Parts: sequence; C-alpha cells; structure tokens
Amino acid sequence: MCGIIGYIGSRQATPILIGGLRKLEYRGYDSAGVSVLDPTSGPSTSRVVRCRGKLSALEDKLTREPAPGTVGIGHTRWATHGRPSDENSHPHKVGPISIIHNGIIENHLALRAELAAAGAKFSSETDTEIFAHLVERALIGGAPDLTTAVRRSLARVRGSFAFVVMSDREPGTLVAAKNSSPLVVGLGDGENYVASDVTAILSETRKVLFIDEGEMVTVTRAGVTITDFEGNLHTREPKVITWSAVQAEKGGFKHYMLKEIHEQPRAVADTLVGRLDLEHDDVVFDGIELDVKKIKRIIFIACGTSYHASMVGEFMIESLARIPVEVDLASEFRYRDPIVGPGDLVVAVSQSGETLDTMEAIREAKRKGAQILAISNVLEASIPRLADHAFYTHAGPEIGVASTKAFTTQLVAMALFAIYLGRRGGALTRERAREVIAELVQLPVKMRDVVETAGQIQSLARRYGAANGFLFLGRGAQYPIALEGALKLKEISYIHAEGYAAGEMKHGPIALIDEHLPVVVLVPRGPYYEKAISNLEEVRARQGKVIAVATKGDNEIGGHADDVILVPDTAIELQPILTVLPLQMLSYYVADFKGTDIDQPRNLAKSVTVE
Ligand code: AGP
Repeated sequence: MCGIIGYIGSRQATPILIGGLRKLEYRGYDSAGVSVLDPTSGPSTSRVVRCRGKLSALEDKLTREPAPGTVGIGHTRWATHGRPSDENSHPHKVGPISIIHNGIIENHLALRAELAAAGAKFSSETDTEIFAHLVERALIGGAPDLTTAVRRSLARVRGSFAFVVMSDREPGTLVAAKNSSPLVVGLGDGENYVASDVTAILSETRKVLFIDEGEMVTVTRAGVTITDFEGNLHTREPKVITWSAVQAEKGGFKHYMLKEIHEQPRAVADTLVGRLDLEHDDVVFDGIELDVKKIKRIIFIACGTSYHASMVGEFMIESLARIPVEVDLASEFRYRDPIVGPGDLVVAVSQSGETLDTMEAIREAKRKGAQILAISNVLEASIPRLADHAFYTHAGPEIGVASTKAFTTQLVAMALFAIYLGRRGGALTRERAREVIAELVQLPVKMRDVVETAGQIQSLARRYGAANGFLFLGRGAQYPIALEGALKLKEISYIHAEGYAAGEMKHGPIALIDEHLPVVVLVPRGPYYEKAISNLEEVRARQGKVIAVATKGDNEIGGHADDVILVPDTAIELQPILTVLPLQMLSYYVADFKGTDIDQPRNLAKSVTVE
C-alpha cells in the first residue's frame, strides 16, 4: 500500500528519491519521508526528513532541512498501523538503522512486547519500527554485516512486506527483502535503485530485476546480490522495460482519471493486438494451453472493480462457452473453506496484481488443487507470479485510484477468454466467433464515439451533481455495470450510490425513489430491453429522475426517460465495454463539479496490499 524507493550511487540521492516518490504517490499518500547518507566525506550519520501530508509537504520541509548525500531511501505511506503523523512516517531510525516498509508485520504486538521487555524504546506506533529494532539488535548480537542482520531479523517476522534497510555503519549497502509486497531493483551504471514499482525508476533506468517471494537483495554501487532468506544465491537475467515514462504522466488532462478514460480506446486496441486469429475465427491466448474439455467449473476471485469485471466474465463465458461459472469476492472466498479442487479453473482478476485478499484466495485454491489463471495489468506482479498461467491486459500504468482503463481491458480479456474456451470446448460455432471477433475489432472506434460525448455528460453532471444519492439499475451483463457505476461515483464524489439488478428494485430500493433521486438505467438493445423499460417506468411513476443509457437508433427511449445517453450497438456480450464509459464520465464530472481529490480520493489507495 505504500511506495518505496532506494538509491545508491554517486549523484545526490534526494532529487532521485523525490522523483521516484512522485511516481509512487498513488500507492500511498498520508505521509512521506527520506533518509539520506553522505558516505563521500568519511563516517556519516543519515539524515531523516519526514512529515505527515502529501509529498509536496515533504518537499517544502526539504528546502528548510536539506538531506545531502549519495545513498538514500524514500517512502510514501498509507497508514495501516499507527495514525498518519510525523512520528509514524517512514523512514524509521533506530541507532544506525534506517528502514522503510510496505505491508504489515502480523506478529508485531508480540515482538513489540518482547523488545520492550528487553529495554527497547519506541518512537512510533508502527509495526515497521519493530523491524529496525530487530536489525539493530542483530548487529549488536554479532551479525557480521547488514545483510546478515536483516536475514536474522526476517526469521522473526510474519506477514506481508517489502523492506529496504540502510545502516550508518555500512553506508555502501542497501538491503531489501520481499514477501507478498512488490519489489524491483533497477540497474544503472555505477549506481543502482530499489523500488516497489518500476514506474518509480523508469526515468532513471529501464534495466530491472524483479525480486521474487522470499528473496532478499544486497545492493551496492557496483552490483546486486540476490539470495533467499537462508542465504542461498539466486541468479536471473535483467528485463528491459518498454513502457515510456510519459505514458504515466497526465498528458494535458486535468486529472489522471480523465486522461485514463480517454485512453481506453487505445488501451483496448493494445489489449487486442496479437490476440485475434482472424483466419481461423479464434483467439491467441498468449500461448496458454488449457485442457478446456476437462474444466468442470470456472471460479472467478477478485475485489472491487475487478470483481465487477469478473461478473461480466461470468455472463460472457456462460453465453459463449457454456461452462458453469461462479464469481466470488476474494476476501470471502479465502475464509469460507470453499469447495474447490482439481477440475476447477480459478481465475484471479486484479489490475494491480498485488491485492492481498486475491493473493490469499489464490493460495487457498492452490492448496486445494485447483489450477490458477491470473488476469493482471502489471507484468510480473505477485498475483500472476503465483498463478499457473498469466494473461496480461495492456492498459499501461493506471495512476487514478478509480479504475477505468484497467476495467475495460479486463472486460476485453474476458471476451477473449470466453471465445478461447468456447472454441476449444466446442460450444461456440465458428460463425458466432467470427461475429464477436468482428465486433471486438470495431470496439476502439465505437469507444471513441462514446468518449466524445463528454460534453453532454458534463452538462448532465452539472444538473444532477447536487443530488444526495444515485441509483444504478441494469439486467444481465448490465447488472455488474450498474454496480461499477455506483462504485465509481462513491469512490470519487463521495455521493452515496447503489447498484441494483433492475428486477430487484421492487424488492426494496423502490422505497428510495422520489423526485430528488437520479436513477441511471442501463437499457441497451437486447433480450432484456422490454423488462428494463418496465423497471424504468416504475421509477418514473414515483417521480424519480431517469437517465437512460441506450443504443443509438433507439427511437422509443426518449419517451421513457428524462435524459438519454446513446452508445453504439455491438454484440450483447460486449455491450458492457461501451455502457460503462458514460458512467465513468458521469462520476468524473460530478466529482469535478464537487471539487473532490479525484485521483487520490480520501481513504483509498490504488493497490490494497492489506486485509
Ligand atoms: C477500483 O476503482 C477500486 N479502486 C478498487 O475497487 C479495486 O478495483 C480493488 O481494490 C481491486 O484491485 P485490483 O484490481 O488491483 O486487485
């Protein structure tokens, strides 16, 4: 949930750390800090500068209290243990040891009690500080170097973590370790980097080593040594990252979220590249070979927006491949002692690839013998690395906390997967596959048409933006889109919103309807149209304000709604990829109208690596 970066070389570390933290700020943003050493002029004591607030607060503080030196670590925090405060900000320093941490030490209470009994004094409420005490004590207890001290300390902690540790006594070394939180090393010329995310170091280097679960790494100016927690040497070839650094910048839009909404046609096109076999009316699923006829059931596990994508996946797969599908929230699945095993294909969906609930659900399914496929937007993230097979969406880095392009590319991945299963399982005829593939090819152009209605949606947002609540209704594959529309609005505008299956409205939420409640009803062309119109009339009969999302060419809908947003026609399985776009834009413009912090909404983080 936090962002971490380390630098060791001959340049001034602070500007590099701050530059990296700026790229990482989306991962955590209630406080920030750096610890920097200057080993060039003999023995050095690291200077820690940290404070509560956004990164800009730290930058201000650094102008008053500069931190010179060529070795350093930096952190942006999203609080888990201990409220956001100056004292709880990272880095934590104990004796010569400075430390930054992403994750949670589960046995921190027992360790704190043990350390306190042994005379340790704590200056924060965090679980992280405990690790600094352990490392200091390991050195006092005779560990010959920082790497050994960190290794001995790792044996004492349980939980999810990525640590980076620095010592005033060994200023030429950074030591990092990983368990369930991302960690990457960047390789430079006479300088090296450590970070929780490649985007933090992309402007400095493109040559990276991804650190695996249960590995630690010793980084000096001259090189990098990877071992496991027992000290056995691990080797691997560096990877070269091709993402451009500007891809992750705002590109002239007011917010990352707006930029990412507009990037969706391109993101979908990128996700389709190389995956369509037009000659055989089939898809190329990145070389993944599943024995489809042996799959008895598919179980999706995911959280939040990825859960909604999975619900659409259920509709697509049952429609095109006729394989039974279940969809489960990862946080429920992992604790339910689920009935799952060989014959089940568990599909873990996560844009970040780091969501802890989803990772733990995968571990549970693996323990019980299921095969795991991951759908992720982040290459080499923990979730795809845990899975037996990984399929990547190509949305590029998504910085806005509210997911948009990662969602629509997940839906495209679902469609490709459904065609793959349908063709291999025999349920999908070649003719139907050809029709759906032809519609997939058309999608980027049709999406652009919808995104260009931004002006109309902006004026709707102005009209309805003062409402105290919203209701979103949909049937079939539009039901998860109703849920997603409500989630998006809640996340960024802080307006209460509910998503409902339209047929369920009469079983309760109908009581909410009056002339003040805007109700967004998803009514694209298709088998649910007449039913959805009836639900829409139920709203109108109670003076609710209806905003209908319908298909271009629908001449009737105007008579049933206060406002109409039209999207192009497409295959029924792909309609969600178009109907979600106006809902994303409506949320964005309502939030913009209210003036909320759209890219970093309160209490939320981009990547949820805690339970
Ligand atoms: C999306 O707008 C949300 N911020 C959130 O619900 C997110 O989808 C959820 O935390 C799951 O994240 P993941 O896709 O990275 O696993």
